[in-house]
This record gives sequence, C-alpha cells and structure tokens, in this order.
Amino acid sequence: MGTGKAAKKTQMPVWPIFAWGVAAGVYASMPSGTWKWDVWFTYHPSAMMISFVALGASAALVKKRGGYENTKLHGTLMLASTLLAGIGWYAIYRNKELFGKPHLTSWHAWLGLAALGAYGLLFAVGLVALHPDIGVKKTSKVLRWWHKWGGRVATALAWVAAVVGFNNMHASDLVRQGLFASPLLVASYFSLL
Ligand code: HEM
Ligand code: HEM
Repeated sequence: MGTGKAAKKTQMPVWPIFAWGVAAGVYASMPSGTWKWDVWFTYHPSAMMISFVALGASAALVKKRGGYENTKLHGTLMLASTLLAGIGWYAIYRNKELFGKPHLTSWHAWLGLAALGAYGLLFAVGLVALHPDIGVKKTSKVLRWWHKWGGRVATALAWVAAVVGFNNMHASDLVRQGLFASPLLVASYFSLL
C-alpha cells in the first residue's frame, strides 16, 4: 500500500461507480421513458454502461488494492466486462440491420469500436501474460506499464464514446448531458489515474 493520494485510491469503495453505471445505463436505454424488452436498442446503452463503467471501473479500483486475490478478481471482472460489451455491440448491430441503416457512421461508433477492440486485446494479454498463476510475462515491468496505461486509455475512450452517444440522443438538453457526464469525470480521477 502506498502513501497519500495513492493510498486513498486503494481504499475507494467500488459500489458508488458500480451503482451509477447500472442506473445510468438503464436510464440511457429508455429514451421514451419506458423499458422496451422487445427493442434491440434497449440492450445497447445498458450493456455498454454496465460493461465499461460499472464493471470496468470496479475492476480497475479492485486492482489498485493490490495482491493475488484482487488481481484474479480484476481479471474476472474484466472478462465479464468484455463479454457484456460484445452483447451491447451485437444489440446495436442487430438494431441497425433491422432498420437497414449503415454501420460505423459516427464518432460515437468509431470511439466505441476502438474501446471494444482494445478491451479484447487487453483481456488476451492480461490472461496470457499477466495472470498471477499462468501469466508468462507477469514480472515484465514494461508489459505491466503498457497494460495499465492501455487499460486506462481504453476505458476513458469508452466513457467518451458513452457521453457522445448520450449527447447525440439528447442534443438540446445540456442539463441532462451534464448530469450524465459529471459522475464519469469524478470517477475517472479515482479509478483511471
Ligand atoms: C459505453 C460505451 C458505448 C460503446 C462502446 C458503444 C459502441 C457503439 C458502437 C460500436 C456503435 C456502432 C454500431 C454499428 O454501427 O453497427 C454504436 C452505435 C450507437 N450507440 Fe453506442 N456505445 C456505447 C454507449 C452508448 C450510449 C450510452 C448510448 C445512448 C444513450 C448509445 C447510443 C448509440 C446509438 C443511438 C447508436 C446508433 C447510431 C450511431 O452509430 O452513432 N451508445 N455504439
Ligand atoms: C479487458 C481486459 C482488461 C482491462 C481493460 C484491464 C485494465 C487494467 C487497468 C486499467 C489497470 C491499471 C489499474 C491501476 O490503476 O492500478 C490494470 C492493471 C493490471 N491488470 Fe488488467 N485489465 C484487463 C484484463 C486483465 C487480466 C485478464 C489480467 C490477469 C489476471 C490482468 C492483470 C493486470 C495486472 C497484473 C495489473 C497490474 C499492472 C501493474 O500496474 O503492475 N488484467 N488492468
């Protein structure tokens, strides 16, 4: 455990950002005000927010606490995050196919795709190289640095994508945009730095 600011971050509870990620995801999935089970779109913002915010931030915070068990929990949470991100992508892909719309046509889509690709890669590298039991390069300082900063940048990209996606849907509502983005800004200080 470190000292000062770093030590405080290792003691951050996981539940506030986890709860906010779930709540904001569910909210963003209901642009009409109701949860529509039979609409593919419903499962896009909710899955993505639970994946990249609730699970992604929790996994990063857990890793900051250090130790064998926490590293394994970090990997497990990131596995859940990566799988759920795949579901979130499939939901919007099917939604677009259904309406005959072209794919990857916005900043939101490109930023989101970059985050998805990076998470897949980071998971593979984490499992093969950094896992405390089976990692083949777990003592490499260089690889650990790249994984850490790659993970931070990928998560930040996903959060920017989420804000852009939400703002696109609530274009003239600055208050709602601010309420959606500000918790992410606060959480990024604690979980991504
Ligand atoms: C949290 C991270 C998120 C990621 C990684 C992500 C990723 C993506 C990707 C890759 C696409 C393109 C799908 C395609 O073209 O086939 C897309 C489309 C879309 N997403 Fe997201 N998304 C996220 C969050 C959100 C949120 C929070 C909302 C809205 C509240 C949202 C709304 C949309 C909409 C409306 C589209 C279709 C229009 C477009 O392509 O820009 N997304 N998203
Ligand atoms: C989608 C997959 C993953 C992402 C996005 C990711 C992201 C991150 C992030 C952001 C950190 C820095 C945490 C901090 O601020 O201290 C980190 C550290 C770390 N992760 Fe992952 N991770 C992923 C998968 C894994 C897996 C599967 C393992 C293996 C169990 C793993 C092992 C580690 C280790 C050992 C560190 C510490 C590196 C160091 O600072 O020395 N990660 N990861």
